[in-house]
This record gives sequence, C-alpha cells and structure tokens, in this order.
Amino acid sequence: MKIASDASVQIPENDAFAALSYKNDTLCFEGIAIEKIAEEVGTPFYVYSQLAIEATYGRCAAAFASIKAGIFYAMKANHNQSVLRIFARNGAGVDIVSIGEALRAIAAGIPAERIIFSGAGKTADELAQAVDLGLYQINVESSNELELLNQIAISRGKKAPVAIRINPDVDAKTMSKTTTGKKGNKFGIDIDVALPVYKRAYSLPGINLVGVAVHIGSQLTSVEPFRLAYAKTVDFLKMLRSQGMSIPRLDLGGGLGIWYRDEQVEDFSAWADVVAEATQGLGVEISIAPGRALIAHAGILVSSVVHVKQGSDRRFLVLDAGMNDLARPSLYGAYHHIIPVDKPASGAPYAPVDIVGPVCESTDAFALARPMPELKDGDLVAFLSAGAYGASMSSAYNSRPLVPEVLIDNDRYAVVRPRPTVQSMIDAEPQAYWLDEDADASRLAEAV
Ligand code: LLP
Repeated sequence: MKIASDASVQIPENDAFAALSYKNDTLCFEGIAIEKIAEEVGTPFYVYSQLAIEATYGRCAAAFASIKAGIFYAMKANHNQSVLRIFARNGAGVDIVSIGEALRAIAAGIPAERIIFSGAGKTADELAQAVDLGLYQINVESSNELELLNQIAISRGKKAPVAIRINPDVDAKTMSKTTTGKKGNKFGIDIDVALPVYKRAYSLPGINLVGVAVHIGSQLTSVEPFRLAYAKTVDFLKMLRSQGMSIPRLDLGGGLGIWYRDEQVEDFSAWADVVAEATQGLGVEISIAPGRALIAHAGILVSSVVHVKQGSDRRFLVLDAGMNDLARPSLYGAYHHIIPVDKPASGAPYAPVDIVGPVCESTDAFALARPMPELKDGDLVAFLSAGAYGASMSSAYNSRPLVPEVLIDNDRYAVVRPRPTVQSMIDAEPQAYWLDEDADASRLAEAV
C-alpha cells in the first residue's frame, strides 16, 4: 500500500522542537548536522541540545516563579553528568531515588542541600548515607522506613529532615504502568491511614518532620488529576496542622506529560496555576519534581538502517538501535516520532514499515506499520522526544555496548558518554578463579 504523505515523519510544528531543523535538506540540532556527529561517533547515539534544556527549564522556572516553588529535577529521566551540570548552573535541585543518583548529582555540582531522596525501597545503608550527606529532605514511604531512619539518625546524633509520602487514591489517567497514586500502588502511605504515621514521626527524636509529599504518576496530559490530588493533600496538611503539627513544606512531585504523538498536553503554566490555586494562603514552601517534561524534547536518538528487509506480507526497517538503547516502545508500547535525517523530497511516497531493532526478541520493535518514505541501508533516522527515560534506561543486553551520548551547544558538540569497548565490558568481569585456566597453581591451592 502506498499512501501520499504523513506528518509523522516531519519535524512536528511545536515549540518544543525549535532546536531541530532541516538545513540543506539534512537534519540539524542547533547548529550541528546530525550526520556529522554520526560520522565521528558512529550510530546509535543520543544527542541533547543545551539550548533546548535551558529554554525548557526557563519556561518551568518562569511558570513557578510567583509561587516560589523549588524545582527538583527528577534525574532518573536523564542522569548524564553534563545534563546535570546544566540543571545545576540554572539553579535546579534534584529528586533522587538511590544514593547512586545522589553521588552523581553531587559530582555534577548539585549540593546536598538541594537534593530530595524519594523511592519506595531505600536500604539502611542508603538512609545512613543520606543522613551523613545532609540531604535536604528524605521522603519516607512506610512506617518501617520511618523507624529505621529514626534509629539511623539517632545513632549519628542527628535529626533527619523527613516528608512522608501519602497516596491520595487519585487516578492519574496515564498509562497503567506509570500511575503511582491509586490505592493498590506500592507507593506512599494510604491517605486514610497516614495520620498515625505522621503523629509517630512528629514524636520521634531522630526525625524532623518537615513535609507532606505526593506524586501520582507520570506522563499526565491533563492537570485535572493534579487538582484532585493536591486538594486532598492540602486538606490533609491542614488537618495535620489542626492537630498541632507545624508542617512547613509540601512536595508535589512530578508527572507533567509531554507531546509524543498528537496528544493534547497541558503546559508548565497550567500546572503552576493548579498548584497556586491549591496552596493559596497556606503559607507553605512548595517543591516540584518534574523529570520528563524538562528533558524529553531536548534529546533525540540517532540510528542507522542496517537492512531494509522485505518479508512475505510486510517490509521491515531493521535499525542498529535496539530495545536495550531505547526501552520505552517495547516496555510500555510508547510512541516516538521517527524521522529521516535526510529530508524526504516533497511529494515523496510513504509506505508502512515495521521499524525494528537487532536484538534477538520479537518485542524489539519501535513501530508497526509506520508510514515512512523510501529508506535504504545505511540511511540515518532520528527518534524524537528521547531525552527522558532513553539513555538512563539503556542496557548492554546482547553484549551491545551502552549507547553513547553527545551534547550540543550552538555550533560545538562533545561526547559526554563515550561508547564503551567490548573489551572494557569483558575486563569488568573477572573469571571465577576455578574457571580461569591461566590461574596459577598457588592461587588455586590457597583457595582450598
Ligand atoms: N517524583 C517521583 C517520586 C517519581 O517516581 C517520578 C517518576 C518523578 C518524580 C518524575 O516524573 P516525571 O515528571 O518524569 O513524569 N520510565 C517511564 C517513566 C517512569 C516514571 C517514574 N517516576 C517512562 O519512560 O515513561
């Protein structure tokens, strides 16, 4: 089947893609031709635009300026050192979910007092490190965690600054795999039973109870679920105060969605308006923790066509990027625009193809029956909106080295995570001594 043309293979007309353009019929990000980076770095690779990151962060900061909300970038979306440094330079804090992320953030210049530690399963060791590092806030998600943290803080002669995450039982109306604030999700403490936990926290000598935290899910395209969740959260906070607990902070989490395909999506201003309305007159320090909305559009994944393969009933575009490099389509059925790096001639015919990766799994598919112009082996394509949850979720499955990352600033670029060599991957795995044929006899003897 041939179809005339399809908007999905053009750069979408959306401010979010302002840094992307075709110049001389080839795709450029800021001032750099993508094919130039491909020649030097090889494919696949991620590339980010500093301009796009700063412009997006600026829009978010401006939207929340009047209510003086602290912005704690959820770095799970993209934890590259250079990306973090851009956020640090622009005044952001970070929301982390492991001590690994804390160390990464600190290495990139984000001080401990701008770090909030979230997450459903922090270990004793992680909590101890969080107390030692002096993080701004630890978001506790269960009674057991509260007791453990109390003990740890006392043993160090400290008081841990704690917010307790409530689960407000609100449907985020997003994909089921990224909803977190409904009853039955593993996150937070059900709002109906949270009061005794707060009372207990207030009484514990190792705990400085500073806030209420809430996060209901990710990729919310409407701000209405935020409105419902924040109303419940604010009522809860007022109730705590009426019981004599002076709670100064409210952590409203992240979750604002982005435009992947053709969704109607609300923006930072709409979200900020909901926050302002919910918290009016409350006299509370507000923090938010957006991840995706700050970084998704600032990054693309570039890949080459390895083979165009004609099956019996369909055509496949086999790429050199796989589900290990960009997991979202195979994991969540997520949609990403995929556009050719060479601009298709106007009036070029489009035909549906299955766009797949090289990994030995049927689920390694990025798009089925996607209308694309004629492409040939070696041609380059770009996955849009891949800056969030792309590289940070990548793996080395099938012994495919971790996908490299590149940062562009205007007309210069730098490789900010090189592709590891396979030899370095092998070297990271010492042989069990009894399997190592070269091991010397004395070492074997020692082991007995
Ligand atoms: N705060 C907490 C406590 C979170 O769990 C998350 C995301 C965020 C903030 C940031 O949410 P965002 O603003 O990015 O929506 N891998 C999935 C998304 C998982 C989100 C997990 N939590 C994806 O690729 O769509």
